Amino acid sequence: MRDVLMEIRGLSKTFHVSGGGLGRRAREVRAVRDVTLSILAGETLGLVGESGCGKSTLGRLCLALEKPTSGEVRFEGRNIFDLTNLERKAFRQAVQLVFQDPYASLNPRRTAGQTVMEPLWLHASDPGQVPEEARSVMRTVGLSEEHAQRYPHEFSGGQRQRIGIARAIALKPKLIVADEPVSALDVSIQAQILNLMKKLQRDFGLTYLFITHDFSVVRYMSDRIAVMYLGRIVELGSNEAIFANPLHPYTRLLHQAIPVPDPRAKRPGPLAVIDDHPAPEEGCLFYPRCPERFDRCRERRPELFERETDHRVACIRREEGL
Ligand SMILES: Nc1ncnc2c1ncn2[C@@H]1O[C@H](COP(=O)(O)OP(=O)(O)OP(=O)(O)O)[C@@H](O)[C@H]1O
Ligand SMILES: [Mg+2]
Repeated sequence: MRDVLMEIRGLSKTFHVSGGGLGRRAREVRAVRDVTLSILAGETLGLVGESGCGKSTLGRLCLALEKPTSGEVRFEGRNIFDLTNLERKAFRQAVQLVFQDPYASLNPRRTAGQTVMEPLWLHASDPGQVPEEARSVMRTVGLSEEHAQRYPHEFSGGQRQRIGIARAIALKPKLIVADEPVSALDVSIQAQILNLMKKLQRDFGLTYLFITHDFSVVRYMSDRIAVMYLGRIVELGSNEAIFANPLHPYTRLLHQAIPVPDPRAKRPGPLAVIDDHPAPEEGCLFYPRCPERFDRCRERRPELFERETDHRVACIRREEGL
């Protein structure tokens, strides 16, 4: 059994968005709804779901970059929204973020070497060691000494993401929240970055919360997978279980939407965008889109329950053993 590194309990985040025009009322966006989830030490937990379902918001909450509306996140036993200054400093070191778009997240006026040294300066016990440590981190992610002098615009997309990863691992973190780390990259480069992340995980015992909307990427990377829909986790299980035996109707639809190499094969088109289906006030949130719905799905909101060993699903049909 692996230890729990991060524990998310009853976590919710609601944004209040102004209506925009005259007389238009403010809207509530319930980005994360009552999520309870553990991240185990040394695992890659994949978080998958379509655009706007709340993945990044959940990731930002896990980094304490966002305050929750309710609920808590415990890291090594402490609620991360309630840390002393000293504890917060340690937390900022132990939990790091890798962004989707390395270009936007790198300072254009800093060389790669300066970018990697920055976190090291902030936390260094021996400043004299910082340049050598930075060189070592850059080698670890496959960049050379010569790269250290270059600016972000002088790199390819894949190399820029290597800098982003170098910055994230510089302080030897325990947990990395990787938010769509390869979505902005060419497909040919994606595998290199994913393999680098796997290697770093083995070498440094890292834990990943790996966020993506891409079902093939999540399958390649994850030990366990959490499927998110409209702010809720609707299915949680091992990689094998989610792919061999998807239980939630939404996960089943995601399966069918995976592109297949054979152009003659008939597959449904991409999933409809969320805004076409406003969230129902009551009952199952997936009801309006669900191919397996029946009347009882409108009566109450299903909670995650263990349908098979270590394989949970939030679905009323599955609750009834169907
Ligand atoms: N700061 C904010 N203010 C208002 N609404 C927000 C804010 N951040 C996110 N949202 C809304 O919360 C919902 C979830 O957004 P989030 O970015 O977490 O989704 P996502 O799953 O990461 O999507 P994507 O795959 O497109 O990155 C969306 O409806 C979004 O518009
Ligand atoms: Mg996002």
